[in-house]
Amino acid sequence: MNWETFQHYDALSEGAARIFLDAIRADPKVALGLPTGNTPLGMYARIVADCSREYRCFRDVVVFNLDEYVGIPRDHPGSYFTFMQRHLFGHVDIEAANTHIPNGMAPDLKVECARYERSIASAGGLAITFLGLGSNGHIAFNEPGTPFDSRTHVVNLSESTRRANAAFFVDQPVPTHAITMGIATILDSRQIVLMASGAKKRDAITRLRSGTQGRDFPASALWTHPNVHVLVDEAAWSMGMAPRQDK
Ligand code: GLP
Repeated sequence: MNWETFQHYDALSEGAARIFLDAIRADPKVALGLPTGNTPLGMYARIVADCSREYRCFRDVVVFNLDEYVGIPRDHPGSYFTFMQRHLFGHVDIEAANTHIPNGMAPDLKVECARYERSIASAGGLAITFLGLGSNGHIAFNEPGTPFDSRTHVVNLSESTRRANAAFFVDQPVPTHAITMGIATILDSRQIVLMASGAKKRDAITRLRSGTQGRDFPASALWTHPNVHVLVDEAAWSMGMAPRQDK
C-alpha cells in the first residue's frame, strides 16, 4: 500500500485528479471505477476544469460507478445517477452508453447485480477504481461484515451510513438498501486509489494503517491488493504511527 499525505483537501483533490487525467490520456479507452460522496467532489471539479479545455477528453472512456440506491428513480436528487450527472457526466464529452451505474429500480435486483458484473467483465475489467472511505471503514456500500470475496450485491444500509447520506433526502427517508460492487469486484481492479479527507476519517485511517485485516473493517481488504494508492490529507492523518509499506 502506497501512502501519500497532503496538507489539505485541495491538494489531495489535485493529486487524485492528476492520477485520473494521466490514466485517460495514457489510454483513451480506459475503464474506471468511480465513487460518489463528498470526498471526490474536488477531484471531479478539477477534471471538469481541465477537460473543458480539451477536445475529446472523455470520448471513449468507460466508467462504472461503485453503487446506487435501491428504489429511487435515477432522476431523484439523491440518486448517484443525479450526482454523477451534476458533478462529472454533464460537463464532459463522455458517451452516455459508456457510463454505467447499477439500476436500483430493476425489477429483479439479483439479475441486475449479475448483469453489472458481466458488463464490467466485458469492458475488460477496471484499470483503476477510485474509492472514498466510510467512517466505519466501508468502501462503496460494503458495510462491516461483508465478505472479502463478495461480488456485486444488494445491501442493507447501516443507520450510520444512512445518517451520513441524509442531506440529499429532504422529501423522503434515505433508502434502506443499495446495490454495490462487492469487495472482490473492487479488488479485481488493476489499481485502487483510496481518498480520505478530514478529521471524521481519522479513526478509519488509523485502523487502515494498522494493517489489521478483518471483515469488521471492509477497507482492510485493500491490504490484499498489490497496487493500492491511498491519498490522505493531514486532518485525516494522525501522527505518531509509521504506515506499513508492504502489501
Ligand atoms: C457513501 C458512498 C461511498 C463513499 C462514502 C463516504 O456511503 N456509497 O462510496 O465512499 O459515502 O462518503 P464521503 O466521501 O462523503 O465521506
